[in-house]
Amino acid sequence: MTRIYIPFYSRYGNTETMALAVAEGVREQGAEPQLAFTGDTLTPPEIMAQDKRWQDTHQRLMAQYALVTAEDLAAADGVCIGTPTRFGNMAAQMKSFIDSLAGVWLSGATINKPAGVFVSTASLHGGQEVTALVTYAPLIHLGFVIVGVPYSVQELLSTTTGGTPYGPTHLAGAMGDRAPDETELLICRALGQRVAAVAEALTALRG
Ligand SMILES: Cc1cc2nc3c(=O)[nH]c(=O)nc-3n(C[C@H](O)[C@H](O)[C@H](O)COP(=O)(O)O)c2cc1C
Repeated sequence: MTRIYIPFYSRYGNTETMALAVAEGVREQGAEPQLAFTGDTLTPPEIMAQDKRWQDTHQRLMAQYALVTAEDLAAADGVCIGTPTRFGNMAAQMKSFIDSLAGVWLSGATINKPAGVFVSTASLHGGQEVTALVTYAPLIHLGFVIVGVPYSVQELLSTTTGGTPYGPTHLAGAMGDRAPDETELLICRALGQRVAAVAEALTALRG
């Protein structure tokens, strides 16, 4: 069965909610999603402890999901990467995982497999599309074929919150407490479906 790896980082759970919707889309396409959390070895525990919502979410995600591994990513037929925006870029926790992929790059295991990106930001113009674009750069080095969301998903034309052709996005609000709405989640599912469909097609081509 086609397997789509969905590594994500999330501080307050919004990117996690998006990851679950992407996984639903993968399943709707008849493929198998594999969710994994990056964990967080970068934030000192005493800093995290100053923000109970962050600490509680972190503990729950650590208990609920497997941690990301280079091996799982290399073995999958495609990936969808989820990250909150950090100053218009991906979160360092996700960058740290991507920077651990030199061995995967050397092996060529990810060449000609599809990859999509989904992003959560606090503000509407705070870097949703830029974050997807900069996350594409290392994925291109790894040989992935970039998959966005086409305008046949008509909600791209009407959304007033998140959702871009570069990938699903989400508007979290200043406190990061606005949950993804139904339109944002629909666009997440659309990415999951499309990456799974492209993975199936590319697997057939690779033979
Ligand atoms: C250091 C830092 C930088 C951030 N930079 C941006 C930014 O450039 N633009 C923006 O809209 N939101 C920014 N945010 C807000 C987060 O993207 C937002 O809280 C996140 O989307 C919530 O997702 P999560 O619940 O999965 O953590 C930043 C947050 C932090 C902590």
